[in-house]
Amino acid sequence: MNISKKYPNKRVVITGSGSGLGQTLALKFAKLGWKVLISDLFLDRAKETEKLVNEAGGQGISAQCDVAKWEDVLNLAQIAEKKWGGADIIINNAGVPGVGIMEDIPIKDWQWIIDINLMGVIYGCKAFLPMFKKQGIGHIVNIASAAGIVSLAEMGPYNVTKAGVISLSETLRMELAGTKIGVTVVCPTFFKTNLMDQARYTDEKQLARAQGFFKFSLGTANSVSRHIMRSIKRNRLYVVTQIDAKLYWKMKRYIPYIYFKVMGFVYSSGLLDKVLGVK
Ligand SMILES: NC(=O)c1ccc[n+]([C@@H]2O[C@H](COP(=O)([O-])OP(=O)(O)OC[C@H]3O[C@@H](n4cnc5c(N)ncnc54)[C@H](O)[C@@H]3O)[C@@H](O)[C@H]2O)c1
Repeated sequence: MNISKKYPNKRVVITGSGSGLGQTLALKFAKLGWKVLISDLFLDRAKETEKLVNEAGGQGISAQCDVAKWEDVLNLAQIAEKKWGGADIIINNAGVPGVGIMEDIPIKDWQWIIDINLMGVIYGCKAFLPMFKKQGIGHIVNIASAAGIVSLAEMGPYNVTKAGVISLSETLRMELAGTKIGVTVVCPTFFKTNLMDQARYTDEKQLARAQGFFKFSLGTANSVSRHIMRSIKRNRLYVVTQIDAKLYWKMKRYIPYIYFKVMGFVYSSGLLDKVLGVK
């Protein structure tokens, strides 16, 4: 079934949609004539997306929203209710990268990333579920990352928050069985966006590694968002888009000891840095 046939009221709310994947998704919905509530920590970014959404044939509204604040996220649900009488899809997309060696990561950086990447998604689900239950229909899309499955070294804070998002999404899928409320969790590997602009790290090497991963990335915001649109339509739980993510996922599931031995060796021997060109 076509996504607009499944949701004829055509109303989507996207957090962190002032840039990258969120903006690309907003434009995909706009091209189908959807109403899009664009929200971001930075209102000017949201307004820029709103302009693009309107030019592309959608109807955009923008709002400032810090997903680390419950009142801000609840406010998004209230705006959707007031302006459109509800919403069909919430995409909990806003996220930041935080990496480093365990003992060096400041506690305040753990709190910062947990508040945005994990609590932000929890708030999004909690704010929109009562509306979806009342309507009897809706879809939650949570943007996690392959990092939540792969658990690469020196990426603790990012891995932990994204694993939490995967677990929350799986739990909701169980809780919402038998309803018309869909749940999708998205687990891409690297694709080029402005993600690293807000990165927190403990050593320049981690930044260089991320840049190396971006250089070899096998996806784009466009290809990831195409997969997401298809998965909403089919109510798929997991969106594991790129081939490398699929490979890591299968290895960890079916041969976990070999997976940790191989990946541990690739990291500890310096092979990973050699391949990525990290000095
Ligand atoms: N780019 C990648 O390689 C990649 C890979 C896997 C997962 N992801 C995930 O995709 C999502 C989107 O990231 P992106 O790559 O498009 O990055 P991006 O930086 O281009 O976009 C993220 C947006 O979120 C906003 N944001 C940051 N903190 C916020 C907050 N507290 N409240 C509201 N908005 C906030 C930023 O202003 C930005 O506009 C994130 O959850 C990210 O973890 C990205």
